[in-house]
Amino acid sequence: MNTEVLKYNKESIERAAGIIRNGGLVGMPTETVYGLAANALDEAAVASIFAAKGRPQDNPLIVHISGIEQLAPLVREIPEVASRLADRFWGGPLTMIFPKSDVVPDITSGGLDTVAVRMPASEAARSLIDACGLPIAAPSANLSGSPSPTTAQHVYDDMHGRIPLIIDGGECSCGVESTVICFRENKIHILRPGGITAEMLSEFAEVEIDKAVSAKPAADERVLSPGMKYKHYSPKADVFIVDEHGDAFKRYCLTHAKGRTIALGIGTENDGIFIDYGACAEIQAQRLFSLLRYADDSGAELVFVEMPSQDGVGLAVYNRLLRAAGFRIVKE
Ligand code: TXA
Ligand code: MG
Repeated sequence: MNTEVLKYNKESIERAAGIIRNGGLVGMPTETVYGLAANALDEAAVASIFAAKGRPQDNPLIVHISGIEQLAPLVREIPEVASRLADRFWGGPLTMIFPKSDVVPDITSGGLDTVAVRMPASEAARSLIDACGLPIAAPSANLSGSPSPTTAQHVYDDMHGRIPLIIDGGECSCGVESTVICFRENKIHILRPGGITAEMLSEFAEVEIDKAVSAKPAADERVLSPGMKYKHYSPKADVFIVDEHGDAFKRYCLTHAKGRTIALGIGTENDGIFIDYGACAEIQAQRLFSLLRYADDSGAELVFVEMPSQDGVGLAVYNRLLRAAGFRIVKE
């Protein structure tokens, strides 16, 4: 199959909508990461998402909508706090989990009785959903296990030959996937941290952070969000989080460099093995996946990353890094 890449505009969205209405797949830009979009209500189309990504069938997909009125048909119940969160944070990088209605096929929800729904902020994503007139299932548009794509080129690198069209909406502004939450006993329970932070959510209800966000689930442990048990975001290189800062970080990296080594530092100068991955969490989030892909493209065998802060969006950066590093944290 030939894979076309078209800039986001009215014509390319019409083309993409035609493909999706006919059961096909399209690479779709959003403000978080690029998604692999299909009709969420079409079992065969959703099955082809799993096939194209090589994704385990029990890992449910997020259903994307472009207007709040599209939520009710997908779910059996909308908690009051969810309505208030939607008012404040939709469109934006927040995914909420609801009891699902029969409209949503089991394959979309990975066999669960719940469905994850998000309304993106991205104009390109929303105009595609509008043009389809359908809810869109979209996981991140990477091959399962590799870093999520934040440019159309990343999607092309993973998906060319597997999908007919990628809409190029430029670089994703957020750079990490949406925050995923569910509601438990009047609390907001964070399953995956993202651009909408625990601090922001705590204005609406008590917030608890799932322990799988920062710890490795045991092999036999039942996790609330199936995505958390899989190896994720990994480049081919060996990644380590280095729990040292400033000069101590640099010393560690220079001492332990072996073969082609890249060291991602916080606000460091780009010099030798060192590359700056951002002085603040927002920039780190935006650059992280792209730099992990760059590590592969440049043939790196070893990647050291300076331990990020875990505040605000930093928790999302830390969560993705832990998985990229297989939970390996080192220090002097
Ligand atoms: O920002 C995003 O959320 C991107 C863009 C494309 O919208 N999408 C994305 O999808 O990251 P994906 O499939 O890569 O990640 C969805 C996560 C997975 O960890 C999955 O297990 C979890 O959400 N999830 C989906 N439905 C769920 C459900 N019903 N219950 C618990 N977790 C769910
Ligand atoms: Mg993903």
